[in-house]
Amino acid sequence: MTTKCVDDYRFKLGTRELVPIMIGGMGVDISTADLALAAARLGGVGHISDAMLPTVADRRYDTKFVKEKLKKYKYNVENTDKTDIKFDLGVIEEATRLHVGKTMAAKRGDGMVFINCMEKLTMNAPKETLKVRMNAALDAGIDGITLAAGLHLGSLALIEDHPRFRDAKLGIIVSSLRALQLFLRKNSRSGRLPDYVVVEGPLAGGHLGFGLEDWSKYDLATITAEVIAWLKAEHLDIPVIPAGGIFTGSDATRHLKAGAGAVQVATRFTVTKECGLPDDVKQEYFKASEGDIEVNGISPTGYPMRMLKKSPGIGSGIRPNCEAYGYILDSNGKCAYIDAYNREVTAQPDAKKIKVWDKTCLCTHMRNFDIWTCGHYTYRLKDTTRKDDGGNYRLLSAEHVFRDYQFSKEGKILLPE
Ligand SMILES: Cc1cc2nc3c(=O)[nH]c(=O)nc-3n(C[C@H](O)[C@H](O)[C@H](O)COP(=O)(O)O)c2cc1C
Repeated sequence: MTTKCVDDYRFKLGTRELVPIMIGGMGVDISTADLALAAARLGGVGHISDAMLPTVADRRYDTKFVKEKLKKYKYNVENTDKTDIKFDLGVIEEATRLHVGKTMAAKRGDGMVFINCMEKLTMNAPKETLKVRMNAALDAGIDGITLAAGLHLGSLALIEDHPRFRDAKLGIIVSSLRALQLFLRKNSRSGRLPDYVVVEGPLAGGHLGFGLEDWSKYDLATITAEVIAWLKAEHLDIPVIPAGGIFTGSDATRHLKAGAGAVQVATRFTVTKECGLPDDVKQEYFKASEGDIEVNGISPTGYPMRMLKKSPGIGSGIRPNCEAYGYILDSNGKCAYIDAYNREVTAQPDAKKIKVWDKTCLCTHMRNFDIWTCGHYTYRLKDTTRKDDGGNYRLLSAEHVFRDYQFSKEGKILLPE
């Protein structure tokens, strides 16, 4: 019997047949348009992220959204109460249309580009802002929306009146069968099933859908098998896409053989030229050893998050920057970092520079690439490239990594020429 590779399978999404490789969404602009477009060009699925799009637009398209918001709320910068800080829905809509529109206009090839929408970006008005973000992405022609970081019990209702509600692809990321069952039950009124389900296990990058204490007890293959078996028993023909720790083409093939529709991967692409991380941060990802990576509770979202222990944002006690950003403010205008920061200001009255260890200002530090979130197998990235004459690890092209997933066998990883 010949050994199979990923390319022996196809991701059937409605009437479409794709290469069964999906590059996961990585905010804030870590999964850039260029990275997503590379996946689409090669016949797979790429994601852009809708996290903090006004600041992404400022950086990429020369808008002034953040400056204008800060100007409006400057009076509140010293205030510990952030309930006044509201997003202008028109700005959110414009930034989303700009980023999605420009990305889709540049799309070539047979693949697709989706957008990752995180429910935990509550933005001091969770429903209203999520509604605008999703509808604007559909307006601007996105191929699909992946609902992430939350249970999304009411999310489909927010777009059910959109003319593209049935034609755009819609999927959800879950970390348990129970979460999927809840999502299906609560969204059944919309009369529309998701087109795909991403099952994200405990080895993924970004936020984890498990507890800080118990994440290591879970296993991706087991949860994926449970979800596939349940969907089959319910006669629901929805492709299941495992994610988290799928590092080689052979890892991916194993999941496809076990019934997955495709795989979602991300960490291998963090060291590609197309990835939005700064080059020096990419070198940190390459250099990391297993002991340099931790899952901690410093994200004010309440979800555990995996990151490099060296991330400059850990322990940084900067003043909360909600007047400029404010994406984690809950529906009452609160964020766990604001509380932690104020507590430390009181406890360290003489300190020149406040240190806050238990929470971080996620908006500011993700925006500045100072929280180095990463997947569990980041410590294996050094085995995927060669060093150049100066001793730096060579960045890869997204195409190189994509093709390696697509065609490699026997656990092999193709090194660059
Ligand atoms: C740097 C980085 C940032 C991420 N950011 C997000 C995010 O903003 N939203 C999300 O749903 N998942 C995020 N993820 C998770 C990925 O989309 C993906 O599901 C997961 O990392 C796949 O596992 P792998 O990295 O082991 O391949 C992120 C992952 C990484 C590595």
